[in-house]
Amino acid sequence: MTFKKPFEKFLSLPLRAKFILSFLAVICFGGIISLIFGTRLEHRTIFSLAQAKVRHDLAAAWMVYNEKLNDIRDIVRLNSSRESIQKAVKHNDAETLQRYLGRVREEFSLDTLTLTDSQGRVILRTNQLKIGKDDQLRDPLVSRALKGETVASTQIIPREELLKEGKDQAQRAYLKFIPTPKAAPRPENHEDRGMMLKAAAPLIDEDGSLLGVLYGGILLNKNYEIVDRVKEIVYKGEKYKGKETGTATIFQWDLRISTNVKNAEGERAIGTRVSKEVNQAVLKEGKPWIDRAFVVNDWYITAYEPIKNIDGEIIGILYVGMLEKPYIDLRNNVMMTFTGMAILCVVLLLVILFFITSTIINPLKGMVSATKKIAQGNLNPKVEISFQDEIGQLAQSFNQMTENLKKANEKLIHWGKTLEKRVEERTEELREMQDYLVQSEKLASLGKMAAGVAHEINNPLTSILINTHLVLEKIEKNHSFYENLSLIADETSRCSNIVTGLLEFSRQNPPQLAFTDINEVINRILKLLENQASFQNITIKKELNPDLPQIKIDKDKIKQVFWNLMINASEAMPKGGTLIIRSQFSADKKCIEIEFIDTGLGIPKENINKLFDPFFTTKGSGTGLGLAVSYGIIKQHQGNIEVKSEVSQGSVFTISLPIKV
Ligand SMILES: Nc1ncnc2c1ncn2[C@@H]1O[C@H](COP(=O)(O)OP(=O)(O)OP(=O)(O)O)[C@@H](O)[C@H]1O
Ligand SMILES: [Mg+2]
Repeated sequence: MTFKKPFEKFLSLPLRAKFILSFLAVICFGGIISLIFGTRLEHRTIFSLAQAKVRHDLAAAWMVYNEKLNDIRDIVRLNSSRESIQKAVKHNDAETLQRYLGRVREEFSLDTLTLTDSQGRVILRTNQLKIGKDDQLRDPLVSRALKGETVASTQIIPREELLKEGKDQAQRAYLKFIPTPKAAPRPENHEDRGMMLKAAAPLIDEDGSLLGVLYGGILLNKNYEIVDRVKEIVYKGEKYKGKETGTATIFQWDLRISTNVKNAEGERAIGTRVSKEVNQAVLKEGKPWIDRAFVVNDWYITAYEPIKNIDGEIIGILYVGMLEKPYIDLRNNVMMTFTGMAILCVVLLLVILFFITSTIINPLKGMVSATKKIAQGNLNPKVEISFQDEIGQLAQSFNQMTENLKKANEKLIHWGKTLEKRVEERTEELREMQDYLVQSEKLASLGKMAAGVAHEINNPLTSILINTHLVLEKIEKNHSFYENLSLIADETSRCSNIVTGLLEFSRQNPPQLAFTDINEVINRILKLLENQASFQNITIKKELNPDLPQIKIDKDKIKQVFWNLMINASEAMPKGGTLIIRSQFSADKKCIEIEFIDTGLGIPKENINKLFDPFFTTKGSGTGLGLAVSYGIIKQHQGNIEVKSEVSQGSVFTISLPIKV
C-alpha cells in the first residue's frame, strides 16, 4: 500500500516527466554505483601503485644504508691489512698509529676507529690520545674479528662505551623522548645508548698470526647523512606545495634518531617515536609494515623494515615515506574530472531526452487537444505530421479518421436537412388531403340533402311563383295587395335561385373534358360581364399570356368558376376599382395559373379558412355557394384554388390547372 500510492502518482505524471525521472533514476543509480566502485578501484589502484613505489624506495634506502656499512667495512679491512699499521702494532708505535689512524678516521668521517690487541683489549682509540686498555672481547663484532673474520653490522652501543669514545658521542646519543600521541608507552623517558654502523677486521701479519682487531663505525644518532642521501637519491629533493615529498628515518628501537621528517617548527623530528601498530608489527613481530600512516604532521604512505644486529636481533627500523597528499590530489583530480564528465553527459542526455520526448509528446498533445475539439463538435482540427515514425503514422491515421468523421457528419446533416424538407412536404400534402377530404365530405353530405330538398321544394315554389304572377297580372299596380304580392314573387324567386344553386352544387357529374384555350374562355365571360351594371366603375386589365398551351377542361364548368370569381371581385369593389386577370404558364409545376386580382375590401384573416365552406357569405343576398361550387369544380380537374388577401387592400384568387396530355 505504501509503495503503491507514490507509484500510482508517478504513473499519473505527464509523459515527459515520467521519461526524464526514469532516466534520471537510472543515471543516478548507475552514477552512484560507478562512483562508489570507481572511487574504490581508483583508490586501490593509486594506492597499490604508491605502495609498490614506497616498497621500491625502501629497497633503495637499504642500498644506501648497506653501502655505508660496506664502506666502513672496507675502510676497516683495508687499514687492518696495511703493513705499516701491522708494523706499528708490532713495535707498539702508538704515535704512528694515532697519526695514521686518526687521519683515516677524519678522512672518512668515522666516529670511532679503535684498535685492540689480540686479546680484545683496546690499545688505541683514535678519539682519545690516552690509551685505556679496556676489554672489548664482549663486543660480538670484535670477538668474531678475533676469530679472523671481517664483519660489519648495526650495533647498539651502551652509554659507557660511548663515553669511552668521547663525551660528544654520549651527548649525541642522548635523546629525551618527545611525547608522541600514538606511540606505545615506555617506562623510560630518554635514550642514552647509541646506534652505530660498525665494522671490525682482524690484523693478521704475514706469518698469519693475529696481532689485534681494528674496528670503526659511524654513530647514527643525529647523523643525517644516510637519510638525506636516501631522500636525494630516491626523491631527488622534490617538494609538493612546500613540503618534502619523500622522507627517510632511522629508528633506534622505536625512537627517531636520524630523520628528515620535519616537525611543526620545521626542525627534524628526532626524539619522537613510532606508532604503536608499527612498533608491534616491525619491532615485536619483525614484519615489514607498508601502509598509510600519520607521521608527525602529515599522512604518508610508508614502509618500515626492522634493522637487525649481527646476531639477528631487532634493534631498530629503517623507514621511508611518501607524502600522501600528491596521490590524494591526483585521486581527487581524477574523480573531479570523472564527475565533471558524468555531469556533462547527464546534461547532454537530458537535452537529447528533451528533444526526443518532444517528438513524441508534441504530436500526442496535438492529438489530445484535437480530440477535445472533436468532442466539442469541431471536426476541422488536423495534427501536424513531423516525422514518418510510429507517432507520425498514428497522427496520419488520426487525421484520416477525423476526415472520415467529418464526411460522415456532413452526410448526416444533409440527410437531416432533406428529411426535414421531405417531412414538411409530406405534412403539407397530408394537410391538403385532409382539407380536401373534409371539404369533399361536407360537399357530399350537403349534395345529398340539397338534392332531396330541391326535389321537394322546387315544385311548390314553381306553383307559388306562377300563381303569384297570375294574380299580379290581374290586379292594378295601385292595388293594396300589389306591393305585397310583388315581394312574395321576389322572395319566391330568390328561394328558387337557392334551390337551383343547391341542385347545381349537388350535381356531381363527371366533367366533360376537351382541349380548350383558357384565354378564350376568359375573354368570352368578360364580354358578357362588361355590360353588367356592377362593372361600370371597374377597370378591367387583362394580362393574358398568348402562348399558353391548350388545356383539357370542362369548358362550361370552368366558365362558371371564372364567372363566380369575377362577380365576387366586382361585389368587393362597390365603389369601383381595378380587376386584373392574368394567365400564365408554369413550366416547373406543369400547370396554367389564372389570377384574379382586385383592389376591393379584402378578407379578414378569421374568414379565410371559411371561404370555401358552403353557405358562408357576408352578403345579405348571397347564397354562400359560389366558392364552394367553384372549389368542387377545380378539384374535379385535379387543380388548385388559393387565396391571398389584405383587408382594404384587395384579394388575389389563383387557380392552377394541370396540363394533361
Ligand atoms: N373578391 C372578394 N373580395 C372580398 N370578399 C370576397 C371575395 N370573394 C368572395 N368573398 C367573400 O366570400 C364570401 C363567399 O363567397 P361566395 O361566392 O361563396 O358567396 P357569396 O358571393 O356571398 O354569395 P353568391 O355567390 O351566392 O352570390 C362572400 O360572401 C365574401 O364575403
Ligand atoms: Mg359569390
